[in-house]
Amino acid sequence: AAGRPLTGRRAVVTAGPTFEPIDPVRGLTNRSSGKQGYAVAAALAELGCAVTLVSGPTALGAPVGVNRIDVESALEMQKATQDALPADIAVLSAAVADWRIDTVAGAKIKKAPGGPPTLSLVENPDILAGLSRPGRNRPKLVIGFAAETQDLEANARAKLSRKGCDWIVGNDVSDEVFGSDGNTVLLVTASGVETWPRQSKTAIARRLAARIAEQFKDPA
Ligand code: C5P
Repeated sequence: AAGRPLTGRRAVVTAGPTFEPIDPVRGLTNRSSGKQGYAVAAALAELGCAVTLVSGPTALGAPVGVNRIDVESALEMQKATQDALPADIAVLSAAVADWRIDTVAGAKIKKAPGGPPTLSLVENPDILAGLSRPGRNRPKLVIGFAAETQDLEANARAKLSRKGCDWIVGNDVSDEVFGSDGNTVLLVTASGVETWPRQSKTAIARRLAARIAEQFKDPA
Protein backbone atom coordinates (compact mmCIF):
# COMPACT_ATOMS: atom_id res chain seq x y z
CA ALA A 1 0.00 0.00 0.00
CA ALA A 2 1.53 3.25 -1.19
CA GLY A 3 0.00 5.29 1.66
CA ARG A 4 1.05 2.74 4.31
CA PRO A 5 4.75 2.14 3.61
CA LEU A 6 5.45 0.75 7.10
CA THR A 7 2.98 -2.12 6.80
CA GLY A 8 4.63 -5.25 8.23
CA ARG A 9 7.07 -3.22 10.36
CA ARG A 10 7.03 -3.06 14.15
CA ALA A 11 7.94 -0.12 16.36
CA VAL A 12 8.30 0.51 20.06
CA VAL A 13 7.86 4.10 21.25
CA THR A 14 8.41 5.38 24.80
CA ALA A 15 6.71 8.57 25.91
CA GLY A 16 5.83 10.71 28.89
CA PRO A 17 7.52 11.06 32.26
CA THR A 18 8.36 8.29 34.67
CA PHE A 19 7.06 8.26 38.24
CA GLU A 20 9.50 7.01 40.85
CA PRO A 21 7.71 6.03 44.05
CA ILE A 22 8.92 7.25 47.46
CA ASP A 23 6.19 5.49 49.45
CA PRO A 24 2.64 4.35 48.58
CA VAL A 25 1.39 7.94 48.23
CA ARG A 26 4.39 10.00 47.02
CA GLY A 27 6.85 10.02 44.18
CA LEU A 28 9.32 11.89 41.97
CA THR A 29 8.34 12.83 38.45
CA ASN A 30 8.86 15.52 35.80
CA ARG A 31 6.92 17.84 33.50
CA SER A 32 6.91 15.78 30.30
CA SER A 33 3.43 15.83 28.74
CA GLY A 34 4.06 12.89 26.42
CA LYS A 35 2.60 14.83 23.47
CA GLN A 36 5.58 14.48 21.13
CA GLY A 37 5.97 10.74 21.72
CA TYR A 38 2.25 10.09 21.37
CA ALA A 39 2.28 12.03 18.09
CA VAL A 40 5.16 9.88 16.82
CA ALA A 41 3.30 6.69 17.78
CA ALA A 42 0.19 7.94 15.96
CA ALA A 43 2.16 8.99 12.86
CA LEU A 44 3.91 5.60 12.60
CA ALA A 45 0.57 3.79 12.97
CA GLU A 46 -0.90 5.99 10.21
CA LEU A 47 1.84 4.64 7.92
CA GLY A 48 0.82 1.06 8.67
CA CYS A 49 3.38 0.29 11.38
CA ALA A 50 2.42 -1.97 14.32
CA VAL A 51 3.20 0.28 17.28
CA THR A 52 3.65 -0.50 20.98
CA LEU A 53 3.59 2.73 22.98
CA VAL A 54 5.19 2.34 26.40
CA SER A 55 3.85 5.28 28.32
CA GLY A 56 4.53 6.84 31.68
CA PRO A 57 1.63 8.61 33.42
CA THR A 58 0.09 11.19 31.06
CA ALA A 59 -3.28 12.82 30.55
CA LEU A 60 -3.44 11.66 26.93
CA GLY A 61 -5.67 9.09 25.28
CA ALA A 62 -4.10 6.21 23.35
CA PRO A 63 -3.77 7.07 19.64
CA VAL A 64 -5.99 5.05 17.32
CA GLY A 65 -4.49 1.72 16.31
CA VAL A 66 -1.67 1.84 18.86
CA ASN A 67 -1.05 -0.75 21.57
CA ARG A 68 -0.43 1.31 24.72
CA ILE A 69 1.32 -0.24 27.71
CA ASP A 70 1.06 1.90 30.86
CA VAL A 71 4.02 2.00 33.21
CA GLU A 72 5.13 4.19 36.09
CA SER A 73 8.80 3.78 36.96
CA ALA A 74 11.92 3.66 34.77
CA LEU A 75 12.45 0.01 35.69
CA GLU A 76 8.91 -0.82 34.55
CA MET A 77 9.47 1.18 31.36
CA GLN A 78 12.70 -0.68 30.65
CA LYS A 79 11.01 -4.08 31.07
CA ALA A 80 7.97 -3.16 28.94
CA THR A 81 10.28 -1.80 26.23
CA GLN A 82 12.31 -5.02 26.18
CA ASP A 83 9.10 -7.07 26.16
CA ALA A 84 7.99 -5.19 23.02
CA LEU A 85 10.97 -6.54 21.05
CA PRO A 86 11.73 -7.63 18.41
CA ALA A 87 11.00 -4.38 16.62
CA ASP A 88 12.37 -2.75 13.47
CA ILE A 89 12.13 0.75 14.90
CA ALA A 90 12.55 2.22 18.39
CA VAL A 91 11.73 5.84 19.18
CA LEU A 92 12.57 6.60 22.80
CA SER A 93 11.10 9.98 23.60
CA ALA A 94 10.24 9.40 27.27
CA ALA A 95 11.64 11.73 29.91
CA VAL A 96 13.04 8.96 32.09
CA ALA A 97 13.94 9.99 35.63
CA ASP A 98 17.70 9.88 36.09
CA TRP A 99 17.30 8.55 39.63
CA ARG A 100 14.91 6.46 41.66
CA ILE A 101 14.50 6.13 45.42
CA ASP A 102 16.89 3.49 46.71
CA THR A 103 14.45 1.80 49.10
CA VAL A 104 10.75 2.49 48.55
CA ALA A 105 8.89 2.64 51.88
CA GLY A 106 6.14 0.05 52.20
CA ALA A 107 3.98 2.38 54.28
CA LYS A 108 3.40 6.14 54.17
CA ILE A 109 6.35 7.98 55.69
CA LYS A 110 5.01 9.97 58.66
CA LYS A 111 6.01 13.50 59.56
CA ALA A 112 8.11 13.09 62.67
CA PRO A 113 9.58 15.42 65.30
CA GLY A 114 13.07 14.27 64.32
CA GLY A 115 12.81 16.27 61.08
CA PRO A 116 12.41 15.35 57.41
CA PRO A 117 13.57 11.99 56.07
CA THR A 118 16.67 11.72 53.93
CA LEU A 119 15.89 10.25 50.51
CA SER A 120 18.66 8.15 49.07
CA LEU A 121 18.76 7.99 45.26
CA VAL A 122 20.22 5.46 42.86
CA GLU A 123 20.74 5.89 39.13
CA ASN A 124 18.18 4.44 36.74
CA PRO A 125 19.27 2.32 33.77
CA ASP A 126 19.62 4.17 30.47
CA ILE A 127 16.94 2.48 28.35
CA LEU A 128 18.12 4.12 25.12
CA ALA A 129 21.78 3.17 25.58
CA GLY A 130 20.81 -0.39 26.50
CA LEU A 131 18.58 -0.82 23.46
CA SER A 132 21.28 0.65 21.19
CA ARG A 133 23.87 -1.91 22.24
CA PRO A 134 24.73 -4.26 19.35
CA GLY A 135 22.96 -7.59 19.67
CA ARG A 136 20.40 -9.93 18.26
CA ASN A 137 17.44 -7.90 19.45
CA ARG A 138 18.70 -4.43 18.51
CA PRO A 139 16.09 -2.63 16.40
CA LYS A 140 17.45 -1.64 12.97
CA LEU A 141 16.70 2.02 13.62
CA VAL A 142 17.03 3.41 17.15
CA ILE A 143 16.05 7.04 17.64
CA GLY A 144 16.59 9.07 20.81
CA PHE A 145 15.63 12.56 21.88
CA ALA A 146 17.82 15.25 23.39
CA ALA A 147 16.22 18.13 25.25
CA GLU A 148 18.67 21.00 25.51
CA THR A 149 18.56 24.65 26.43
CA GLN A 150 21.88 25.54 24.78
CA ASP A 151 24.38 24.24 22.20
CA LEU A 152 21.63 22.03 20.80
CA GLU A 153 23.56 20.69 17.83
CA ALA A 154 26.78 19.90 19.71
CA ASN A 155 24.92 18.27 22.57
CA ALA A 156 22.72 16.24 20.22
CA ARG A 157 25.76 15.01 18.27
CA ALA A 158 27.53 14.05 21.49
CA LYS A 159 24.42 12.21 22.68
CA LEU A 160 24.21 10.27 19.41
CA SER A 161 27.67 8.77 19.88
CA ARG A 162 27.42 8.38 23.66
CA LYS A 163 24.17 6.45 23.48
CA GLY A 164 25.00 4.46 20.35
CA CYS A 165 21.68 5.19 18.69
CA ASP A 166 21.20 5.94 14.97
CA TRP A 167 19.35 9.25 15.04
CA ILE A 168 18.80 11.95 17.64
CA VAL A 169 15.96 14.41 17.55
CA GLY A 170 17.34 17.49 19.28
CA ASN A 171 14.74 19.48 21.11
CA ASP A 172 15.24 23.17 21.81
CA VAL A 173 13.52 23.44 25.18
CA SER A 174 14.46 27.09 25.71
CA ASP A 175 11.59 27.69 23.28
CA GLU A 176 8.15 26.88 24.69
CA VAL A 177 7.95 23.08 24.60
CA PHE A 178 6.68 21.45 27.79
CA GLY A 179 2.96 20.82 27.43
CA SER A 180 2.91 23.00 24.31
CA ASP A 181 1.58 21.84 20.94
CA GLY A 182 4.58 23.30 19.10
CA ASN A 183 8.21 22.25 19.00
CA THR A 184 11.53 23.22 17.40
CA VAL A 185 13.84 20.33 16.58
CA LEU A 186 16.84 19.28 14.59
CA LEU A 187 17.54 15.79 13.31
CA VAL A 188 21.06 14.43 13.75
CA THR A 189 22.05 11.34 11.77
CA ALA A 190 25.40 9.86 10.76
CA SER A 191 25.17 11.83 7.52
CA GLY A 192 24.53 15.23 9.05
CA VAL A 193 22.15 17.63 10.70
CA GLU A 194 18.82 18.99 9.51
CA THR A 195 17.18 21.91 11.23
CA TRP A 196 13.41 21.83 11.05
CA PRO A 197 11.35 25.01 11.43
CA ARG A 198 9.11 25.41 14.48
CA GLN A 199 5.92 23.48 13.81
CA SER A 200 3.31 21.47 15.65
CA LYS A 201 4.31 18.27 17.43
CA THR A 202 1.96 16.44 15.05
CA ALA A 203 3.73 17.88 12.00
CA ILE A 204 7.15 16.99 13.44
CA ALA A 205 5.93 13.45 14.14
CA ARG A 206 4.63 13.03 10.58
CA ARG A 207 7.87 14.31 9.11
CA LEU A 208 9.87 11.95 11.31
CA ALA A 209 7.61 9.01 10.41
CA ALA A 210 8.05 9.83 6.71
CA ARG A 211 11.85 9.87 7.17
CA ILE A 212 11.66 6.53 8.96
CA ALA A 213 9.56 5.08 6.12
CA GLU A 214 12.28 6.20 3.66
CA GLN A 215 14.78 4.08 5.62
CA PHE A 216 12.54 1.05 5.23
CA LYS A 217 11.67 1.44 1.57
CA ASP A 218 12.03 -2.23 0.76
CA PRO A 219 8.99 -4.22 1.87
CA ALA A 220 9.21 -6.07 5.20
O1 C5P B 1 20.73 11.47 28.67
P1 C5P B 1 19.41 12.10 28.35
O2 C5P B 1 18.35 11.82 29.39
O3 C5P B 1 19.50 13.53 27.99
O4 C5P B 1 18.97 11.35 27.01
C1 C5P B 1 17.71 11.53 26.46
C2 C5P B 1 17.35 10.34 25.61
O5 C5P B 1 17.67 9.14 26.29
C3 C5P B 1 15.86 10.26 25.34
O6 C5P B 1 15.68 9.59 24.11
C4 C5P B 1 15.37 9.41 26.51
O7 C5P B 1 14.14 8.78 26.22
C5 C5P B 1 16.50 8.43 26.66
N1 C5P B 1 16.72 7.94 28.03
C6 C5P B 1 16.41 6.62 28.35
N2 C5P B 1 16.65 6.17 29.63
C7 C5P B 1 17.18 6.97 30.57
C8 C5P B 1 17.50 8.30 30.26
C9 C5P B 1 17.24 8.76 28.98
O8 C5P B 1 15.93 5.88 27.48
N3 C5P B 1 17.38 6.49 31.79
